[in-house]
Amino acid sequence: TNDYDSRQTDVLIIGAGLAGLSTALSLPQSLKVTVLSKAALDVCSSHYAQGGIAASLDKNDSVTDHIADTLVAGAGLCEADHTTSILSAGQQAIQWLCDQGVPFTQIPQQDNSHKSLNGLHISDLHLTKEGGHGCRRVAHADDATGQHIMDTLFVKAYAADNITILPYHEALDLLTSPFNVSGSLDGDAKYCQGALVFDHINQRQRIFYSRAVVLASGGLGQLFKRASAPNVCVGDGVMMAWRAGCRLANLEFIQFHPTGLAFADSSFLISEALRGEGGRLYCPQTGARFMLDIDARAELAPRDIVARAIAEQIHTNGLGYVHLDVSHLPATFLQAHFPQIDQTLLALGIDMTTEPIPVAPTAHYSCGGVVTSAHGFTDVAGLYAAGEVAYTGLHGANRLASNSLLECVVVGRNIAADLPRYLREFTASNTALYDDKAAQQALTVWTPPILKHTQPVILPTSTSLIFDSSVYNAADDSSHSDTDVTKITTALKHLMTTNMGITRHAESLEQALIQIQKWQQWLKHATFSQFHACDPNSPTAADRLAHLQLARQLQLATLIIQSAYQRIESRGGHYRQDYPDMACQPKVSVITPLSISRPC
Ligand code: SIN
Repeated sequence: TNDYDSRQTDVLIIGAGLAGLSTALSLPQSLKVTVLSKAALDVCSSHYAQGGIAASLDKNDSVTDHIADTLVAGAGLCEADHTTSILSAGQQAIQWLCDQGVPFTQIPQQDNSHKSLNGLHISDLHLTKEGGHGCRRVAHADDATGQHIMDTLFVKAYAADNITILPYHEALDLLTSPFNVSGSLDGDAKYCQGALVFDHINQRQRIFYSRAVVLASGGLGQLFKRASAPNVCVGDGVMMAWRAGCRLANLEFIQFHPTGLAFADSSFLISEALRGEGGRLYCPQTGARFMLDIDARAELAPRDIVARAIAEQIHTNGLGYVHLDVSHLPATFLQAHFPQIDQTLLALGIDMTTEPIPVAPTAHYSCGGVVTSAHGFTDVAGLYAAGEVAYTGLHGANRLASNSLLECVVVGRNIAADLPRYLREFTASNTALYDDKAAQQALTVWTPPILKHTQPVILPTSTSLIFDSSVYNAADDSSHSDTDVTKITTALKHLMTTNMGITRHAESLEQALIQIQKWQQWLKHATFSQFHACDPNSPTAADRLAHLQLARQLQLATLIIQSAYQRIESRGGHYRQDYPDMACQPKVSVITPLSISRPC
């Protein structure tokens, strides 16, 4: 059947992490805002962020120095104007969080003369240090910064009459004009007017019509075997935007955090702030402090350098981990500053005050994504993007630690500042929503982000997406699962980690592409035979969703690998064994969907 439950809202925000809630809370209260969360509300990367949020807050620091450190870490690929624009807004963004009531850790015995009426002032905040930063620059709330920020913002969002938050609502596809439920990309004049959504609680599909959409759906770490992101982070936002006609950039720059906890299947992160406070890395077998031989900044070198050094040690020692040791620091200091890490490790039987922590690199952050401006504009009118799903160019080839939370707040608030203008000019009334003239006008005035120095990624012809939104037509309550789909999803993670991990090589990338094509063929066949079976009970809604998710992951993996294959150099987080040197000319890799053609 085609009985969609539909709902109308002014602004639809896909994702309830920091970017989504910063946007929602900064929009005028006259606008009806709906925020979708794919799973429970705390299942998002923002919630798990430990170290903190970077900005030049210290009196001896400056925006210029913050920009300089960001550009160095970004290895020539940061988009300079966007970087300047975002980092210059750092102080206001953190003061905004203070005003919302975020309980940032304060400098001890601070006199209260600077306190703002709303509570904390940025000059009250204790700052920590992380790799690649030239000074203490990271505001934090103990070692659970993300959790404290998100808890605070959720209280505010729930209290706001104009904001509705819907957990367990998974966006499947963006609706672009001319309106078409199957998401067809026919025609050039596009603007975004909502999303097709699966409501996991009631096992039914819903359409959310909106006057604008903000994509804040997070990253794609879960395409890899070890990842710090929760299991919902499989890049579906990137794929939705691509299908809607947005360019994607720099997908090959996956950042691996050097120190994920290497204990059973744990995805717990051991914050870089521990190394910022003096933590040291050792080879468990020889006891050598190996970073001293690799970089003058030792354990505080940029992440790509530390992650590669650890991966090399692990390869040599065969143990699957190295040691992070903080036992030389006072136990009281560690317990006071890192209570979450301390308690989590103690629960696993590791006392970091007296013994080393086993750590290994873990997929952590996608530096690439949907091409946007510093104000969150994408290529499609009415569609904004912010946070890890987006590529503003701030992170270049390697994100500087703790710049991502800042980007979420700054770009989210920039979007909220621009959105009323967009709504006023192009969709002043609901009747204008489906008016092609308004859409045309929107497209002529909407300014797509400019990218300089790009290298287009040529896609293999065999990557056409097996995607048909009509597979969601049935809503049934069976929870039957498709084991082959599950097996391939797991095997894909292994493949990505092995062939597209910290080091890459043409051969390993080619093998990965071939394997993925085989899986795509299998899926195409399985999808066809199952979905056209005579048995009225097959396939179930769960089958359909699993097939769609796998199809999307396989295609995204293809796009990532293809981007890595075409970047024949090593730069930042992208290391090619067969091309270990950096090319003279830094270039952004850009993938343009077939439905739009733009000069590169
Ligand atoms: C950490 O605490 O090490 C993570 C911070 C970040 O990824 O920015």
